Amino acid sequence: MATNITWHPNLSHNERIELRKQKGCTVWLTGLSASGKSTIACALEQSILARGLNSYRLDGDNVRFGLNKDLGFSESDRNENIRRISEVAKLFTDSCCITLTSFISPYKQDRKLARELHEKDNLPFVEVYVDVPVEVAEQRDPKGLYKKAREGIIKEFTGISAPYEAPENPEIHLKNYHGASIEESAEQIIDYLIKHNYIS
Ligand code: PPS
Repeated sequence: MATNITWHPNLSHNERIELRKQKGCTVWLTGLSASGKSTIACALEQSILARGLNSYRLDGDNVRFGLNKDLGFSESDRNENIRRISEVAKLFTDSCCITLTSFISPYKQDRKLARELHEKDNLPFVEVYVDVPVEVAEQRDPKGLYKKAREGIIKEFTGISAPYEAPENPEIHLKNYHGASIEESAEQIIDYLIKHNYIS
């Protein structure tokens, strides 16, 4: 715990928006492994960058190679994973970036904390539930992780041996198992961002 520290006043978010000519927003994708979070976030990032706006994707696997390399998949490690990412996403969004996060983020309480951290500073937070049932995700199994989880090789695997608490009131609910393509899902989010004036 740090002591004797002093907050250094900075530009306000509105002053940044004025200077940067872009609004920031955190788009928080949550869903099971193999639900399509990362692929949708990639398509979104490209679409937003192509509009000449800044966007950056924070991804579950990738962040665990660096910032969160000390964390595993116990409940408390996942809590800490999401807490750190929430703080990082908040900084990116304060800098007027369209910040895309693709983390399983299985616990309601962690996602609530992420939202509260943003709302406390008047930063927009858009929760996107990538809703794919575990049977569909397991059938896809692109990394072979569900198979390993069933064999007991991977412990505490979300949807198999660890919980996933589905969002009840996400801003966007993508039912990605009705054959919707990645492009259609990304487009649904883009439409929301345009409608709410975060991008044009
Ligand atoms: S969490 O729950 O939000 O902290 O997880 P996250 O940081 O998004 O990391 C999920 C990716 O880690 C891989 N992986 C596991 N996922 C779930 N449970 C267990 N036990 C596990 N072990 C490894 C997996 O590749 C996840 O990536 P995605 O993209 O979701 O498939």
